Amino acid sequence: MLVLSTINEVRAWHAGKIPARIVLVPTMGALHEGHLKLVHEARQIAGPEGSVVVSIFVNPTQFGPNEDFSKYPRELQADAEKCEAAGVDMIFAPDANEVYPPDRSMQVLETSLSTTLCGASRPGHFDGVCLVVLKLFNIIQPTHSVFGKKDYQQLAIIRRMTRDLDVPVEIIGIETVREPDGLALSSRNRYLNQDERDQAVEIRRGLEFVNERFLSGETDSNMLTAMFEKHLAYAAPLHRLDYIACVNRDTLIPDPCANDRSLLATAVFFGKTRLIDNLELGI
Ligand code: PAJ
Repeated sequence: MLVLSTINEVRAWHAGKIPARIVLVPTMGALHEGHLKLVHEARQIAGPEGSVVVSIFVNPTQFGPNEDFSKYPRELQADAEKCEAAGVDMIFAPDANEVYPPDRSMQVLETSLSTTLCGASRPGHFDGVCLVVLKLFNIIQPTHSVFGKKDYQQLAIIRRMTRDLDVPVEIIGIETVREPDGLALSSRNRYLNQDERDQAVEIRRGLEFVNERFLSGETDSNMLTAMFEKHLAYAAPLHRLDYIACVNRDTLIPDPCANDRSLLATAVFFGKTRLIDNLELGI
């Protein structure tokens, strides 16, 4: 497995490739089983002839001024060992100076999907994500790229970016990997204390509870989201709700009448830790 850190090295690596699939898994490192599921899926898609590339880069442009950029875990050595064991061909782990020239003046702005859900409380976040992902696509030139459905809004926005900007990369979405009790794996879970961790499981339970009500015929989204709020108020007193919304899976526009293309998406704080999860209704 190669570990490269400059764009020129990657270009040289790419030039030496026979035409085969290159499957990119973009990450910010601190890899857990959720990331590794994406890597395993990438390995399947690449096949024996193709290459799997994992990028590890804590992207400064997607963090707000009061977010956890400096505190975000950085553990390249451990990540490289996990990637090696998972059959990764190359890790791209650049410095911020390599990715962002100090006088850069270009941006990628998304003007619709990023205005709701997490985008509403994290202005500029998804523009930073689009900028770095587009740059990673241009640097690595993958044929395919794999993203988790845990960050559903991110996946929808990347799909929209590749469609609207004609980026020749096929985007693949992968189901969320969870702890045995249902909590979605996240590098932020480590910041929860025991009581918060015990209550965080109620996010998933609440979403499943709402889905059961949907499956038994309730389609009024206000009723459904109110049920989720009630569930958390009762079962997770330490939480603070950022949002719960019922939206169309592709456009992220609110669905007043829930249907089998609807997504329930939520963000919940425990202390300073913000957790997100979602559920595709009807499944
Ligand atoms: P990061 O949070 O490191 O996540 C990298 C990828 O792993 C994303 O596609 C995310 O959806 C996926 N992922 C995280 N937890 C998961 C879980 N429990 N199950 C399945 N997939 C999971 O998302 C980012 O980094 C950045 O925004 C990035 C796209 C790399 C751009 O900087």
